[in-house]
Amino acid sequence: MNGFLSLNIFSLYSFNEGGQSSFSVASFLSVFMISAKSTPTGHQFVQFSQPVHKNKTSKLFELREGDSIGIRGPFRNSFNYENAKNILVVGGGMGVTALTILIESLRLNKKKVFVAIGAKDEPSLIFADRLIDIIPNTMCTTEDGSVGKKCVVTDPIKDIIEKENVDLIITCGPEIMMKRVLEIADSKNIEIQASLERKMKCGVDLCGSCCVGEKNDISVCKDGLIFNSTQLKTFPQFGSCSK
Ligand code: FES
Repeated sequence: MNGFLSLNIFSLYSFNEGGQSSFSVASFLSVFMISAKSTPTGHQFVQFSQPVHKNKTSKLFELREGDSIGIRGPFRNSFNYENAKNILVVGGGMGVTALTILIESLRLNKKKVFVAIGAKDEPSLIFADRLIDIIPNTMCTTEDGSVGKKCVVTDPIKDIIEKENVDLIITCGPEIMMKRVLEIADSKNIEIQASLERKMKCGVDLCGSCCVGEKNDISVCKDGLIFNSTQLKTFPQFGSCSK
């Protein structure tokens, strides 16, 4: 499984003492190991999920309560769903993590929400129970059929779009999956918003490691992570990036 060992969820206190959290659903953080001692204060939780990768993130999982890590952020734009009525959320693999928090927000905003999530097998299908608690008819798919429908997650979405009169699709997951979602949405004349992932280094539009676009002139860290249909269609790399 490419060094993927397990998934852990961290809960941290945010830095804003007693104030409004500056984090939104689409926020991303740069997290790094430090040796200096710091004392985060405040009353808001920030929660993030992180798969354990040998030699990459495993040090994080050796931390104990009270140990320190470095955090920069939040960096992001945000999903824009104010004008949508019937929203289909399509998630694959680790992308389901960000969408789970989004779906909780959509429900609070009284939107009609339909959910389709997929992974290659049951252990990789994360947060399914939590989503089914919020949206009982969540469509679960696995490539090996170990849970839910045996298919890829993009297979059943045409039916959902037609039956439920969907007017916005929000997606996060492998790019090859999001590209297929874009093709299906386009054929039905529906807007999508996709959350892109790239290897982030500086997080502030300096290093160029996250650039996309015809001239590599758009930074995912500054202009994203969320991009709409019109923008995605101008990215020649969209659908071929594996990170
Ligand atoms: S991470 Fe450096 S430009 Fe985006």
